[in-house]
Amino acid sequence: MISLEHISKTFGANRPDAVHAVRDVSLRVRPGEIYGIIGYSGAGKSTLVRCVNLLERPTAGKVFLDGVELTALKESELRLARKKIGMIFQQFNLLAGRTVAQNIAMSLQYSGIPRAQIREKVKRLLEYVELSDKANAWPSQLSGGQKQRVAIARALANDPKVLLCDEATSALDPQTTQSILGLLQRLNRELGITIVVITHEMAVIKKICHRVAVMENGEVVEENDVISLFADPKRQITRDFLRTTSNLSGIYPLVEADAPITRLRPGDLLVLMRYGKAEVSQPLISRMTKQFDLEINILFGDLEIISGTPMGGTVAIFHGAPEAIAGALAFLDSEHISVEVIRDAREA
Ligand SMILES: Nc1ncnc2c1ncn2[C@@H]1O[C@H](COP(=O)(O)OP(=O)(O)O)[C@@H](O)[C@H]1O
Ligand SMILES: [Mg+2]
Repeated sequence: MISLEHISKTFGANRPDAVHAVRDVSLRVRPGEIYGIIGYSGAGKSTLVRCVNLLERPTAGKVFLDGVELTALKESELRLARKKIGMIFQQFNLLAGRTVAQNIAMSLQYSGIPRAQIREKVKRLLEYVELSDKANAWPSQLSGGQKQRVAIARALANDPKVLLCDEATSALDPQTTQSILGLLQRLNRELGITIVVITHEMAVIKKICHRVAVMENGEVVEENDVISLFADPKRQITRDFLRTTSNLSGIYPLVEADAPITRLRPGDLLVLMRYGKAEVSQPLISRMTKQFDLEINILFGDLEIISGTPMGGTVAIFHGAPEAIAGALAFLDSEHISVEVIRDAREA
């Protein structure tokens, strides 16, 4: 649905203080999927997503939407093509001087659509986002969640194929965030709209995305389907993001505080293992204990539901001869279990 080919964006290209906001990013978003882009502030997420609808012209690279190269279109053609793309923002961007209904109708005016038809459409959109009673309210009379619902209704007015969401829930409290994410999921399932979600919160990715790209310094440094990313993160930055949502991350402050349960005997290893399936954890651990003459002391285990799939994780201390520990690690590797060493007393 969206294809970005070697997109770069440099601000102030000829100046000494040039900013390389996006560096050679290529990615594809499939029809009907919810695609997440996660990164810290300044990573280039907003710039990249603005390149999709050419609110920002890339310095280099091509943008395709539904098979059409947007970067090759004339301004008039582009205006038309843009109607296939809706966008919502962290700050909602509603016009304060217009009512809710007028905000939603905005992009339909001057389109040649008869007024009665516009009114009918606005009514249906308001029903869809469950705000029928707010048609004549002013934006200032709405809560943050209601404002975002209006912004979503407005974005849907042109029946877009794609919805771009730039930190759409970042200004909302956790409960409102859940309800907006639920609404996005509904648009995706019921209307088949392809959604791109920009966020700095792993919880958002975990809740609704099918695939995800991790951005750092203008580059996509890791991309995967969400379950595989959780099961086997490749980059440190990805692990850092995962820590923010997993109960297993409770181990890090304990290690930092040198809590007694995290103290190791010489030769021990403290590890965090992640499994793509929840049910493998028990057999795996009993098998390693027997096969490698290893003592495994489980500190905590966890079950997470990611995109509807249960996944397991265990934090444990391995105690045994160096060969036994090495054997167990090789075994885990052969089983494609992701292992993060948290504390290592093997050489101590
Ligand atoms: N219009 C602009 N002019 C100059 N620099 C910009 C502009 N927009 C963004 N940047 C810079 O580009 C980098 C990426 O910004 P942005 O895309 O907003 O990142 P993110 O959305 O991940 O926080 C930042 O260093 C930012 O300061
Ligand atoms: Mg941003």
